[in-house]
Amino acid sequence: MSSSDTVLPGGHVVGLGETRRPDKWWVGPLLTVSFIGVAIGYGTIAMLMGNHYWVGAEGHGFGGYLSPLYSPVLMFDASAAGAAPASHAWFGAFPEWYPSLLPKSPAFLILLFPGAFRFTCYYYRKAYYRSFGFAPPGCAVEGVRRGKYEGETKLFLFQNLHRYAMYFAVIFNIILTYDAVMSFFRDGALGIGVGSVVLTINATLLAFYTFGCHSFRHLIGGRANCFTCDGKETLSSKAWSFGTFFNQRHMQIAWVSLAWVMFTDLYVRMVSMGIWTDFNTWGEAATKTVGL
Ligand code: FES
Repeated sequence: MSSSDTVLPGGHVVGLGETRRPDKWWVGPLLTVSFIGVAIGYGTIAMLMGNHYWVGAEGHGFGGYLSPLYSPVLMFDASAAGAAPASHAWFGAFPEWYPSLLPKSPAFLILLFPGAFRFTCYYYRKAYYRSFGFAPPGCAVEGVRRGKYEGETKLFLFQNLHRYAMYFAVIFNIILTYDAVMSFFRDGALGIGVGSVVLTINATLLAFYTFGCHSFRHLIGGRANCFTCDGKETLSSKAWSFGTFFNQRHMQIAWVSLAWVMFTDLYVRMVSMGIWTDFNTWGEAATKTVGL
């Protein structure tokens, strides 16, 4: 047999989802669709409910647990069960002129910002382009055929907003860190509860997610033309290495942090509704039960 007659392994198979890959390549996209679907579903319902997003002392004092889906509380509806106290709302109650067609939920006012950060994340783009767009669903798997690829220059031009969404993410990280610190207080008294741990893990994971962001890494250490030109490690190169540590784990942190945000909201919601008991050092009297 001459070399020109040699049959090479692999090759391209035409047809949506067709491939010569023998492995279960579809498991990844299936899990992605399922997980993102659950997260979007839960987040939307939690946002629309507009209630049970806060746990604190009857006196509405300093401290308490605030759901990360509702933080910061820009405006609030005092009639909603489990609402944050007025002192937590940056701009007070929803005004009279607030359109009745829109949900009177503090989460509705803010979720665009973390949502935009996640949606335009470089990792998530890969995940949903593959899983939802089939473009393609996996390496060496036939996907949806499109015309000329224009990338993120026309149709997906908005994806370039990621670098700006990152600034808002940093602000939210600071706010959620503040919330985590506040969760160790109840009506001014220092203590700890399971919710304090839940909120602290949440703030930490979200900070790790931001630290691993490509745009964040560029911001803190990526603008230097040369890291080692003067023969020693610079502040820029150290910052770059710091970002790289988290960037190399960005996919894993993306999933875990997303799941934990949802769990944190669920935890606060369940405690606020009186369904779950928050074990803490303040005692039950320090748990708000107003509006159950
Ligand atoms: S690249 Fe994922 S958050 Fe920026």
